[in-house]
Amino acid sequence: MKCLAVLTSGGDAPGMNAAIRSVVRVGVDMGWQIMGVRHGYTGLITNNVIPLGARDVSGIIQLGGTMLGSARCPEFKTEDGRQKGLRVLKEHKIEALIIIGGGGSQAGAYALSQMGFPVVGVASTIDNDLYGSDITIGVDTALNIALEAIDRLKVTALSHERAFLIEVMGRDCGYLALMAGIAGGTEAIVIPEVETNPEVLAGELRSAYERGQAHALVVVAEGAKYNAGALVDYFKEHKERLGFDLRVTTLGHVQRGGAPSAYDRLLATRLGADAVDRLARGEHGVLVGLVKGEITATPLTEVVSNKKLLDLRLLKLAQKLAR
Ligand code: ADP
Ligand code: F6P
Repeated sequence: MKCLAVLTSGGDAPGMNAAIRSVVRVGVDMGWQIMGVRHGYTGLITNNVIPLGARDVSGIIQLGGTMLGSARCPEFKTEDGRQKGLRVLKEHKIEALIIIGGGGSQAGAYALSQMGFPVVGVASTIDNDLYGSDITIGVDTALNIALEAIDRLKVTALSHERAFLIEVMGRDCGYLALMAGIAGGTEAIVIPEVETNPEVLAGELRSAYERGQAHALVVVAEGAKYNAGALVDYFKEHKERLGFDLRVTTLGHVQRGGAPSAYDRLLATRLGADAVDRLARGEHGVLVGLVKGEITATPLTEVVSNKKLLDLRLLKLAQKLAR
C-alpha cells in the first residue's frame, strides 16, 4: 500500500475542501493510505499529521475554507525548515505529497521536489496569478462575491448620486479587479499592471458626472500603486473636482469566505483527482491546472520561473465600454 499526504497552504480559497475530498477518495479508491497535514507547511514542520479516510471528508464539498487549515510558514523557506518537513514525511512513511495552494506554496513544492521528494501541486488561489493554470481554484467564487458587492454598491451609489472606490484582493495581480470591473460594468478599473494617473481617473469621474451619470464605480486592485487608500488621500485635496461625493468599500477577506461555486467545486474535484492519477503513474514535480480547457501538468520548474500575464486587451475593452 502506498502512503500519500495532502496539505493546503497559503491563502485559503473556496474549493480547497473539494480538492481535499477528491484526493482522499480517489486515493482510497486506489487502495492507498491518505494522510492530511494540518496548517500547511507549519504542520509539516511540527508533525501535525492525521490519517484521512473516505468518511473524514464527508459533507465538506460545499464548504469554503479548508478542513485541514492553512498557514503562511516563513520557516519553510529555509533549508533547515524543509529538512524538518522531510523528516516528518519519512517518519510517517509518506511517499508523495499533494500541495494545494498558490504561487508561494508551489515554490515550496518545487523546493521539496528539488530535495528529491515526489510532489504534485494543485493550482489554488483566489488571485489567479499562478503560471500553469488559466484559472485556479477559488477565483470564480471570489469573483462572484466581488460582483455581488459591486451590484449592491451600485444600488446605494445610485440613490445618493455617489462615486465608490471598491477595493478587491489579488495581491500584486489585477485579475480579480479587471474581471469584476468588466462584469460589474464599472466606470474605471485600477490594476497594478498598468500605472494609473489619479488626475486622469479624477477626470474620468468628472466627465461621468458631467454627462449626467447618477453614479460612478471604480474597482481598485489592492496591489495597485494607487490603491483605495492612496486614491482617497489623493482625492482629499481635490474633492470638488470629482463632481461626485466619494465613498470607499474594501472587500478584503470577505472574498475568500463563503461557499465555493459549482465551477470551483468541479475544478477542484478534477484537479485533485488528476494529481492522484499522475502520482499513480509515477509522475511528479508538476503542477496540475487547467490550460485551454484541458487538465494539464506543468513542470514546477516552469511554474516558478514564469510569470502569468494579464490580458490587457480586456482593460482596453472595459475602457471602451465605460461611457
Ligand atoms: P500562496 O501559496 O497562496 O501564494 P504564500 O505566498 O504566502 O501563499 O506562500 C505560502 C507558503 O509557501 C509560505 O508561507 C511558505 O511557507 C511557502 N513558500 C513560499 N515561497 C517559498 C519558497 N520560495 N520556498 C519554499 N517555500 C515557500
Ligand atoms: O493570496 C490570497 C490573498 O487573499 C491575497 O489576495 C491577499 O493579498 C492575501 O492573500 C492576504 O493575506 P492574509 O490572509 O495573510 O492577510
